[in-house]
Amino acid sequence: MNHEKIMRAIHDIFHPSLPRLAPGDDASTRRALEMLYGTGFDGVDKGFRVLDIGCGNGAQTLRLTAELGCKVTAVDHYQPYLDELDRRAKSQRRCEPGGRF
Ligand SMILES: C[S@@+](CC[C@H](N)C(=O)[O-])C[C@H]1O[C@@H](n2cnc3c(N)ncnc32)[C@H](O)[C@@H]1O
Repeated sequence: MNHEKIMRAIHDIFHPSLPRLAPGDDASTRRALEMLYGTGFDGVDKGFRVLDIGCGNGAQTLRLTAELGCKVTAVDHYQPYLDELDRRAKSQRRCEPGGRF
C-alpha cells in the first residue's frame, strides 16, 4: 500500500466528523492546564498566545479558547480537519472566523 492509500485509509477512519481524533476529553484538558497554572485558574494574561500544532478537527482547540480566553492558532496539514474546526468555531463563536487560524 502506498503512502497516499495509507493516508486515505487513516482519514476514512479518523473522519473529520468524529468528536475528537485522539484520546482525552475536556476534563483532561482542564487537568493539563491546572498542572501548568494551578488549580482554580481562570484565564491567562492579556496577549498570551497558544499554538496548537496538529489540531485535527479542534476538540481541544475550542476547549483551550474557552478555558484560557486568549487567541489560539491552530495548525494541521489536512484541510478537511481545518474546515471542520472552522465550522465548529463559527458555530460556537469562540474563535476568529477564517479557517486559516
Ligand atoms: C492524533 S491526531 C490529534 C488531533 C487533535 N490534536 C486531537 O487531540 O484530537 C494528530 C493530528 O496531527 C496532524 N498532523 C500530523 N503531522 C502533521 C504535520 N507535519 N503538520 C501538521 N499537522 C500534522 C494530523 O493531521 C492530525 O490531525
